[in-house]
Amino acid sequence: METKVVLLTGASAGIGLAAANLLMDAGATVYAASRRGGDNKKSSSGEGEIINIALDVNDEISLKSAVENIIKQKGKLDAVICNAGNGIAGAIEDISSEEVKYQFETNFFGAVKTIQACLPVFRSQGYGKVIAVSSVAGVIPIPFQTLYSASKSALLTFMKALSLEVKPFGIQCCTVLPGDTKTDFTAARKFAEKAQNTNSPYYKKMTASIARMEKDEQNGRPAEFVAQKMVNQVYKNKMCFTVIPGIEYKIFNWLFKVLPTRLSVWIVGLLYA
Ligand SMILES: NC(=O)c1ccc[n+]([C@@H]2O[C@H](COP(=O)([O-])OP(=O)(O)OC[C@H]3O[C@@H](n4cnc5c(N)ncnc54)[C@H](OP(=O)(O)O)[C@@H]3O)[C@@H](O)[C@H]2O)c1
Repeated sequence: METKVVLLTGASAGIGLAAANLLMDAGATVYAASRRGGDNKKSSSGEGEIINIALDVNDEISLKSAVENIIKQKGKLDAVICNAGNGIAGAIEDISSEEVKYQFETNFFGAVKTIQACLPVFRSQGYGKVIAVSSVAGVIPIPFQTLYSASKSALLTFMKALSLEVKPFGIQCCTVLPGDTKTDFTAARKFAEKAQNTNSPYYKKMTASIARMEKDEQNGRPAEFVAQKMVNQVYKNKMCFTVIPGIEYKIFNWLFKVLPTRLSVWIVGLLYA
């Protein structure tokens, strides 16, 4: 089988690290991007490899030069996986505009910049796969992670519209919507500065709600489970439009679409508000 060349962001931990290893084991060359970087690796067969790149997805220049470097070294790019992401918790009244920006910066603008860096290559090749990691929380709104939900929802809509723009050039788009997954995401979650003030009128509800979500995340699916579903798309002739790993999350997603909005939002409130 022809060696796939993949640019994967957020590859130093969690779902991204698991996806990098699975791709390498399948024989792919993975350009694994994250801020902290890591060691380069080869698969036991010697066919697959992970080449680490230390970059921030918010840095357009680094992204552009990473893509140029891939083309110089391998002559092609088959797929990009925009997986880098983070979460910020807090009630909206307690979140500063810098913190709003922080949440959208990596989760939305970072993904957009990564995709923009790859599209000229995909277009000139006449093929290419764009995979973006959104979240079930992009469909089902989560209180006190309102901005996280909004950033993932924006990414989901962006991907749907993008697919229409790039289809004539042979470029396919797929959005992955993971549910709770046991990764470093929980520990890396930031709390908005004002939200940590015990005098905030939201403090009690917010901390109880986030504690429940964090427990669900740490009891969630292993990163490898989600990563495998994502990696499968790289090897498909025709990618799925959306991938929702886990039957329970497929059902939640379907229910949220068919139930009246007032009812489905009320159910979310029972769980998390
Ligand atoms: N875990 C869940 O329950 C869950 C559920 C739904 C969706 N997701 C989504 O899945 C994706 C992966 O999350 P995860 O659970 O695997 O979390 P994770 O273990 O915290 O991994 C996040 C990865 O993103 C990288 N990253 C963060 N900011 C970055 C930036 N500005 N530039 C480059 N890389 C950056 C981190 O590396 P560095 O810190 O080294 O940069 C790390 O490799 C995220 O988009 C997340 O929103 C997760």
